[in-house]
Order: sequence, then structure tokens, then C-alpha cells
Amino acid sequence: MATAIGAVVRSLSEVLGWHARRNGSPVRNLGREIYLLMDLSTTCDILCSHCFRNAYTPAPRTMTARELEVLETSVFPHVDRLAFSETAEALHVRMMPEALSAARRAGIPFIRIQSNGTHLSPEVGKVLLDHALNVLGVSLDAVTPETFARIRKGADWEQVVKNVRAFARMRDARPEARTRIALNFSVMVQNAAEAPSFIRFAKELGADSVSFTHLMIETEEMRSWSLIHDPVRANSLFSELREEAEQVAFPVLVPEDVPSTLKPFDGALLESPCYHGPCQAAREKWVYLMADGTCHPCLNLQDCRPMGNVFETPLSELWFGPRNQSFRRGALVSGHVEGCDHCKIFIDPSETGNEMAYMAKRLTTRSAANL
Ligand SMILES: C[S@@+](CC[C@H](N)C(=O)[O-])C[C@H]1O[C@@H](n2cnc3c(N)ncnc32)[C@H](O)[C@@H]1O
Ligand code: SF4
Repeated sequence: MATAIGAVVRSLSEVLGWHARRNGSPVRNLGREIYLLMDLSTTCDILCSHCFRNAYTPAPRTMTARELEVLETSVFPHVDRLAFSETAEALHVRMMPEALSAARRAGIPFIRIQSNGTHLSPEVGKVLLDHALNVLGVSLDAVTPETFARIRKGADWEQVVKNVRAFARMRDARPEARTRIALNFSVMVQNAAEAPSFIRFAKELGADSVSFTHLMIETEEMRSWSLIHDPVRANSLFSELREEAEQVAFPVLVPEDVPSTLKPFDGALLESPCYHGPCQAAREKWVYLMADGTCHPCLNLQDCRPMGNVFETPLSELWFGPRNQSFRRGALVSGHVEGCDHCKIFIDPSETGNEMAYMAKRLTTRSAANL
């Protein structure tokens, strides 16, 4: 009799999507639905002129093999899309091959790695192809060795270009390989003149697409590097990029035009920011997982209360926990995101004329000023 009741309760739980928590209270099941953005390590082998690392250096930390096991069993089974390397360099982390194997064993259908290309040797490239990596993003930001050296400080132009070209050839030689190569170019006054020729260069290298992005202003000095302060120049460059992409017949992402007048940031740090607008993190079910296991609903909320730590609490509990649920309710139901000054990742068309949308939260918000 007890067994029969147990079976009915179990099947009801499955239908309703509930399961018993260790303390007996019910929580909803988390399926494979998370877009996980994560870093295995906090470190990088170079120092780009425009990187946040010029404003602040994260304490060195790399996940351990034991922690990777926790990811494989209690995090990855909930992940639908995985992006390795948000704030660091992924390909110089020694455990990257094991991390890719763990992600594939756990059945994650889509994996992207973003890299500076310095460690993309033929051996590393083979590992990526063997794991059927879906997208390899490589940041180049230049078409000449001089500009590259000024921006991507510490990287070797000849080596990185050789690495990308060799990886594209290796992929093309494997008929089953589907890895797409996506090149990044952060547009700033230092490299704007090279942006149009980057499209043909990328195609010739064997890449599949190019993304041009606005500069995120990380320091006061960088304010003068951003093209948003010169809308005529920015918009004429963007239209040249669109024309060139059409002529070359190559997939290219170009930012929205900048309005003719810009609302400058007045310098007064916000006390309690609350952004009103569309939130990609809430819509797409993001979790940003730091190298120490701490989780936030978005990378831009690191100064706010975290969801918790996946090395202490299963992701499914964190997901349905009060922090994440109140963030999601606010963003999806009420349309405002507490703790967020502006979206920094997908600038809403209504915000393209607001300087604050392009500025690191550290520069605009009191609670983030120490980050
Ligand atoms: C922080 S990096 C981490 C991944 C890897 N190390 C790389 O360079 O691609 C991710 C991307 O952000 C870009 N990035 C860095 N600083 C930026 C800034 N201030 N504004 C816009 N993009 C930036 C990099 O060029 C790269 O394409
Ligand atoms: S390679 Fe990436 S993480 Fe490293 S300094 Fe450059 S932008 Fe930052």
C-alpha cells in the first residue's frame, strides 16, 4: 500500500514538475533551460588597452578538478547554452579540455568559447574540433600589427593571425566539423580607420562572421576613445561597414546608429540604480557563474546580492531561490531591474543616446565603485 502511494506521489511530482528537497519542502524541477555564462579562471595572459583589467585586477582563482565535477553533475545538466570566458582568457586554462568533455558528457547542446587567440595552437584547435565546439570567438580589433600591438598588449600579431588561419584550415579539412569562427572588433578612435578592411581580412582568414561593438568605457581616460562622442564619424563608419559587408557578402554585426545629441553622464554616482527596459538576462534565463562558484543573474549585477554559490547549493535551488526569483519577477513582470543602471550588453534603441549606457557600472554607481 505504502509503495503504491509512493508511486502515485512520484508520478504526480513528475507531471507537476516538483521534487522533494532535502528538508522535505517541495521545489520545482529545473530542466535544461539555462544560458550559462562562466569563467573557469579569473586570469588572462595579456592586457588589452580597453579591458576592465586596466581599472581593476581580479584575485587569481582557477576552478579545481573537484569543482568541475560539481559543475558536471549539478550545473551542466540544466544548461542549454554555455559561454566559456566572459571576463578572462579561456584557452590558457589547463583544464579546458576536461571542462569541454564534462560539458559534452552532460549533454549541453551549444558551447561557445571566446578567446584572444594566443593559445590557439594546432593541439588546442584539435581539442576544440574533437569536442565539436559550436562557436570560437576570437578578438582581433585591428588589421595591422602596429594597431594590434597598441590595443592587444602582450599578444603577438603574427602568431594570433597564424593561429586563426591554421584553425580555419584544420576545421575545413574535417568534413564533419561545424565550428564557426566569429571575429570581434571593439571599435574605438585608435582602430576605427581599420574597421572597414577588417571584413575582407576576416573572410580571407577563414572566419564565418564579424561583430563590431561599441567600446565599453572602463576608465575616465577611455571616455575620449569612444566614438559615441562623435556621432557623425560613428554613423558614417557604421554605414561604410554595412555597405562593405554587403559587397563582400559576409555576415557582419554593426551597432545601431548613435543619435546626433548625446546625454552625457553628469558624474554623480547613482545610489540605488533601477533600470527600466528590456532585460536580456531575464528573457534568456542567464546565469553568470564566477570562477569561485558565485552566481549572479547577470554580469552587470556583481555588486548586488548574489544568487548563491553552486559549490555550496545546487543550481536548481539557487534558480528558484528568492534572489533570482525576485530579479526575474522585477525584470519580466514589472519591467524594471533593481541594481542595474543600464543594460551594458544589448543597448536598447531608446538608450543609444545616453552615455551612461556605454559606461562600466563601476563609473556610474556607488555600490559598484569598489569593483
Ligand atoms: C573580456 S574579453 C574575454 C575573452 C577573451 N579574453 C577575449 O579577449 O576575447 C571578451 C570581449 O570583450 C571585449 N572587450 C574588452 N574590453 C572591452 C571594452 N572596454 N569595450 C568593449 N569590449 C571590450 C574583448 O575585446 C573581447 O572581445
Ligand atoms: S584578452 Fe580578453 S580578458 Fe585578456 S585583457 Fe584582453 S580583453 Fe581582457
